[in-house]
Amino acid sequence: MGKDVIIACDFPSAEQTIAFLDRFEGRKPFVKIGMELFYAAGPQIIKDIKSRGHKIFLDLKLHDIPNTVKKAMSVLSGLDVDICNLHAGGTIPMMEAALEGLTRPDGTRPLLIAVTQLTSTDQETMERDLLIHEPIDQVVMHYAKNAKKAGLDGVVCSPLEAQKVHDACGKDFLTVTPGIRFADGDVGDQKRIMTPAAANEIGSDYIVVGRPITAAEDPVAAYNRCVEEFVK
Ligand code: C5P
Repeated sequence: MGKDVIIACDFPSAEQTIAFLDRFEGRKPFVKIGMELFYAAGPQIIKDIKSRGHKIFLDLKLHDIPNTVKKAMSVLSGLDVDICNLHAGGTIPMMEAALEGLTRPDGTRPLLIAVTQLTSTDQETMERDLLIHEPIDQVVMHYAKNAKKAGLDGVVCSPLEAQKVHDACGKDFLTVTPGIRFADGDVGDQKRIMTPAAANEIGSDYIVVGRPITAAEDPVAAYNRCVEEFVK
């Protein structure tokens, strides 16, 4: 899979999601389905979107004991999604078990990427609540290296970290980056942001874009603009 724009379909129902995707007429953008929609609409929404011809990043961020994650991943691999994820904080044995569970009998599997530290966690909360006292950027890089050691395909990270992750883990280790905004667009609650063009220059492999597309007056035009800036 090459560079692509992934639309974060953060909608509360299957109906709203399908109505949104209908606006793209013949086109089939790569979509991200998160916890909200998955818990509301269940596995059927994955099957429906897949059968319409979209690639899917299923963003459920698994984190549990290795055996539980392995079994859950085995269920997700049956849904035929293209990318799944988990928390690197679950440790290397959990990530290895996840990969095992995700691998189908014929040896194929969806890509598996790790969340390092959530962008909602800052140095202060990490020290206070998690008792981790290293600088947060070193913690993020350490988790990325653990994901690489466990055999994963990449990480979700800020576009500002993509270059460092590639330097530490290799250029083939995928960086999937949210926090994307147009130069002339609303920032919303995102703090560390980058334009699609800058994310391209810094080497992001996939950008995840939600509200700049989903809340746009013309979502198809906003998507086209992202593709134009990021892929070309
Ligand atoms: O609307 P917006 O472009 O901010 O959406 C970004 C998407 O990426 C949301 O689905 C959000 O949950 C997700 N995400 C993020 N930052 C992370 C991990 C995921 O914004 N560190």
